[in-house]
Amino acid sequence: MDFFAGSRLRIFLRYVGRVMRRSCSPVVIVLALAIFGISGCATTTEVGQANFDTTAPTVFIAGSSRGLGLEFARQYAARGWNVIATARRPEASEGLQALVTEHPNVVLDIMDVTKQADVERVAARFSGQPIDVLINSAGIWGDLQAQTFGTLDYDAYQWIYEVNALGPLRVTEALIENVKASEQKKVITLGGGMGTRRTVEQAPGGHYWYRMSRAANLISMAIVQRENKKQGIIIGIISPGKVDTRMLADSGWPAHFKKLSAKDSAGYVIEQIAQLTPEKGGELINYDGNVIGW
Ligand SMILES: NC(=O)c1ccc[n+]([C@@H]2O[C@H](COP(=O)([O-])OP(=O)(O)OC[C@H]3O[C@@H](n4cnc5c(N)ncnc54)[C@H](OP(=O)(O)O)[C@@H]3O)[C@@H](O)[C@H]2O)c1
Repeated sequence: MDFFAGSRLRIFLRYVGRVMRRSCSPVVIVLALAIFGISGCATTTEVGQANFDTTAPTVFIAGSSRGLGLEFARQYAARGWNVIATARRPEASEGLQALVTEHPNVVLDIMDVTKQADVERVAARFSGQPIDVLINSAGIWGDLQAQTFGTLDYDAYQWIYEVNALGPLRVTEALIENVKASEQKKVITLGGGMGTRRTVEQAPGGHYWYRMSRAANLISMAIVQRENKKQGIIIGIISPGKVDTRMLADSGWPAHFKKLSAKDSAGYVIEQIAQLTPEKGGELINYDGNVIGW
């Protein structure tokens, strides 16, 4: 087949595929079946550059460039979910770039959780798209010296609070209608253990800014849960354990101490998300399923 004939065939096939996805028109299907022997009607719809399966659930991840966020994107994509993976610089994440090449049901977008304009633009782009699981995975630990009593840097707190406390609230507020429109209606925040009264007794001191930001995150998510319970929203606050990511290294966790791989932890958290029931909404749940009082 010469080049031009090959190109024309490719363009025609692409056109047939697009029309089938959009309309599932019987005429087009019969035509396609007759000409190419294609069976069945694709149940996909175009979302940005991705082909979302309208019969599959959808996950939205804030902060998916690396660590746990990237693992969630990988594992949900492998399970056949539609994945909206957002990051400050998705183009710089090799993991995300590989994922979007491998999976037609993954779409990437730029979103800094501290930027209202980013969040609003993304919410507008995906307006009307049901989101079954919204995962707030963006987070930072921050400089240790700046959050040690005696050398507290009060300006440093602002940024940590913006990312860890305001970020999940901002993203959740912007996308709550998408979550309400879904079947599962789950909003997940990662971590929280360091923001509890318990850890004041159990953990050594320090880490003021991270712990204060997580305490604020806990209380804000509990309020969101209270306000949206009647609409079926379930807020899952899930502690992923000590996970081998940049954040754990930033926290000063000794390299030889026990930790989970991001792959294993994400798998456990996904299991907890699957088992979330309204009764667990607003509770802090460990990755192994235990509820942690706060
Ligand atoms: N690792 C643990 O042991 C542990 C324990 C408890 C809770 N957590 C929580 O788990 C979540 C994921 O952390 P991780 O362990 O996977 O850490 P990580 O590997 O350091 O990943 C942090 C992620 O957050 C993103 N991020 C940071 N600031 C952002 C912003 N302003 N807007 C959007 N994204 C932003 C980073 O993106 P960039 O590439 O753009 O920086 C990165 O993708 C965090 O919320 C953390 O608090 C982790």
